[in-house]
Amino acid sequence: MDIKSNKNIIACLGDSITFGHGVSATRKTDAWTFVLQRMLGERAEILNFGINGASATEGCPESYRNSGLLDEALSSGAGTFILMLGSNDTKERIWNAQAYKMGMRGIISDVLRLPGDGTDSPELFLMLPPAVFPLEDGQTAYGVSGEILTEQVIPTIEYLAADYGLPVIDLYSATKDHPEYYLEGVHPNKEGNLKIAERVFEAVNKWLDEPSGRKEPAMTNYKDLTSSVKAVTSECPHFIANLANAAALIWEYMDDINWAGFYLIQDGKLVLGPFQGKMACTEIEIGSGVCGTAVAQGKTQLVPNVHEFSGHIACDSASNSEIVVPLRKDGKIFGVLDIDSPSLARFTEEDKDHLEYLAGILELNLFKERPPAVFTHLER
Ligand code: SME
Repeated sequence: MDIKSNKNIIACLGDSITFGHGVSATRKTDAWTFVLQRMLGERAEILNFGINGASATEGCPESYRNSGLLDEALSSGAGTFILMLGSNDTKERIWNAQAYKMGMRGIISDVLRLPGDGTDSPELFLMLPPAVFPLEDGQTAYGVSGEILTEQVIPTIEYLAADYGLPVIDLYSATKDHPEYYLEGVHPNKEGNLKIAERVFEAVNKWLDEPSGRKEPAMTNYKDLTSSVKAVTSECPHFIANLANAAALIWEYMDDINWAGFYLIQDGKLVLGPFQGKMACTEIEIGSGVCGTAVAQGKTQLVPNVHEFSGHIACDSASNSEIVVPLRKDGKIFGVLDIDSPSLARFTEEDKDHLEYLAGILELNLFKERPPAVFTHLER
C-alpha cells in the first residue's frame, strides 16, 4: 500500500452514533462529525465512516470489518483515526467479551499498521462510547445493555488503550449524568451531538497543534535492557532459552519495532531462531538480504529505508527500517540479531553502539552449553 497519510484528514470509524442516527433529519448539520468539521474549519477534513448497527465483535455479521468501510477508511489518506465501537456489541445476541476484544484488536492493528509518508504515522484515538439510558418501560432501545457497556466494554477499551499506548476520548463521563442528551436513551440528540463534538474537538485540536504527527520513539533504556539481558542469561545455561528471553526483553524495552530476533548459522545458511513479531522467513543465504549482508561483510547493517536496500527480504510488509548486528564467538560469526521497525530511520548510530554492546553480553553468556546441532529424543 502506498498511502500518503495526513494528520489533518481525520477518519471517524464507528456505528450509528458516529453516523448521526439520533439527528437523522438534520444529520449534515447536527451530527457530531459535522459539528466538529465546523469547529475545526479549514484546519482539518473530517471523514465520517460511521455505519448503523456496526459492532466490533469478531465473527459477527454486523462486524465493522465486514462492512467494507474499514478498508475505505484505511485507503482514504487519513493520518488521524477516531474509533468508537461497543454499543451494539452489548446486545444479548452479540455480546462475547473475548470476540469483542479480538475484533477491537484487529481494527486497531489494521489502523496502526498503515504506513505513513515517513514524516508522520497514523494517530488513533479510542473513544469510550456515550452512556445509555433505559426508556420509560425500563427497557433500553435496541436491546443495548448499559450494564455491559459500563462493566465490560469501557474497561476493555481502557485496557486496549493502555496496551497500545493510545489516547482515549471519554464520551461516557461526558454523558453519564445527562439523559436529556438523547433521542431514546441510546442515540444522542442535537444537544448530545454538540457535547460529543466539543469533547472530540478538545482532544483533536491539541493533537493538530503539535508540530508534527511523527511521534519520536523514546530512547531505549539500554542500561536496564542490558542489565536485564545480563541477569537473565548469566543465570541460565541454555542457548536457545537465553536467545528467546533476549528477544523478549528487546521487544519489551524498545519502542516502535515490529520484529526482534535472531538468525543462526546452520549448514552454511542463516536459519530463523527465537524471535518476537510476525512469522518470518526461515532461511537466508549468506550475502542475501540485510541479515546475510551483515554476515558476509562482518559488520552491523543500519538500514534507514529497507525499500532502498537492494536485496532486502521483506518478512513483514510493515517494516520500513532495520538494524542487523552480527553475533560472534571467538571472533567468528555464528548468527545475527535482527530488529525491524515500521518507521523510517528508526535506528541511530547510538542504537547501533548499544546493540553491539548487547551482542557482546550475549557472546559472554550464551555458550555455557554447546548449541544443540541435533536434538536427541527419548527412547521408550
Ligand atoms: N529483512 C531481513 C529478513 C528477516 S526479517 O526482517 C525478520 C533481511 O533482509 O535479511
